[in-house]
Amino acid sequence: MRFPSEPFKIKVVEPIRRTTAAERDRLLKEAGYNLFRIPADSVYVDLLTDSGTSAMSDRQWAGLMLGDESYAGSKNYYHFEETVRSIFRYRHVIPTHQGRMAENLLFSTVVKPGMCVPNNIHFDTTRANIEHQGAEAVNAVVKEAYDPHDRSPFKGNMDLARLEEIINHAGPERVPLVLLTITNNSGGGQPVSMDNNSKTRALLNRYGIPLFFDACRFAENCFFIKEREPGYRDRSILEIAQELFSHGDGCTMSAKKDGLVNIGGFLSLNDEQWTRDITNMLILVEGFPTYGGLAGRDLEAMAIGLREVLDEDYLAFRVGQVRYLGDLLDQAGVPILKPVGGHAVYLDAKEFLPHIPQDEFPAQALAVALYRSYGIRGVEIGTVMFGKRESGTGRILHPELEMVRLAIPRRVYTNMQIAYVAESIVDLYGRRESLCGLTMTYEAPMLRHFTARFEELSHGTPARQMVS
Ligand SMILES: Cc1ncc(COP(=O)(O)O)c(C=O)c1O
Repeated sequence: MRFPSEPFKIKVVEPIRRTTAAERDRLLKEAGYNLFRIPADSVYVDLLTDSGTSAMSDRQWAGLMLGDESYAGSKNYYHFEETVRSIFRYRHVIPTHQGRMAENLLFSTVVKPGMCVPNNIHFDTTRANIEHQGAEAVNAVVKEAYDPHDRSPFKGNMDLARLEEIINHAGPERVPLVLLTITNNSGGGQPVSMDNNSKTRALLNRYGIPLFFDACRFAENCFFIKEREPGYRDRSILEIAQELFSHGDGCTMSAKKDGLVNIGGFLSLNDEQWTRDITNMLILVEGFPTYGGLAGRDLEAMAIGLREVLDEDYLAFRVGQVRYLGDLLDQAGVPILKPVGGHAVYLDAKEFLPHIPQDEFPAQALAVALYRSYGIRGVEIGTVMFGKRESGTGRILHPELEMVRLAIPRRVYTNMQIAYVAESIVDLYGRRESLCGLTMTYEAPMLRHFTARFEELSHGTPARQMVS
């Protein structure tokens, strides 16, 4: 068998609508070639994100009926708190409506203007929330992460020498915490090894700097540790997770990923003073500490999901399905980031479309073509998402990786639908030279990828660079 088959059967189905290429072409024009602006019911296979798109289990749906919607002290909160404590083992558990609120609460409490927060690679909301405090968000991932051909098993690892350089350059007193994103979403969903994790901890101990995890995909990271790191083959995912988190002081979590829910998140930590300050802010902006912006039923679904995600049959299928898509593409010669990550396959747009310069957003052009021809929606992770304008000239400074991420929702698509995605991309690769770049006609001052607008260029038309 080339992939582990589904460890579940389908009980409820949601019909999906087929659209014509002409309809999709019109929708693209109306959306300014921004796939975030396409109505979801006009997408056949939606790989925009794995966040909040999971199918819940029958046990989770049953859990919704156990929702206790009391303002204070809901029984679901205690179940949720006990579950989080048993996996993450930090003293305090603060629910939030999703991951970025956990980030916002943490950073608005502990990060001050002029400070510096290193991470392997900051996710876009993490970076934006740090920069919003007037601080600098710095990436310190190992160099292999930037080479799509490098098959190292732990390309999410922190570059420890670089991390130390950043700390010394900023001054340890200006580094309130260091983050490790597991798995490293913006670097291809690549895992961090236990060894690198404990060495990061040891380094930070020397400077007295706390270590926090951006733990959205912690179970997938633990599965890779079990598969790839010596000494972990016979350990359960729960045990690996407990060991991993024992090296940290806390975490932010978007449960929309490895919490297997459609909404929810939390912050969990040990520090008493930080917890008091964060809780006060939580009450101001989210809600009382035993619901934090969620309904009781959401907390129950999250508590159940956090247990289900530790199941090895589930994880073997989950990581196996993503790898299946990657292998089909790789075997057909389509350039993808290797090795395949835990939640997504990343198309290398620079290699896929070498005739489109980075100023003309090749990854966005690729994502647009995938939708137009096959009804498949991915997301650009490249110059649109991470490109910066040089102050003064307005010139775009490009990120090193220019990719289209095909994020696979958890327990949602069958392997046949995944095979359709692979076949479509192989077909597009065969006629890649016909694709043209784009020019950006609108951008917001932050997180511009969500609302940017574009126009299509035709062959031979140079990009007009918009200067903001
Ligand atoms: C690594 C990482 N951190 C943080 C977040 C933010 O989580 P949320 O979308 O729940 O706010 C995401 C979401 O995709 C993520 O992938």
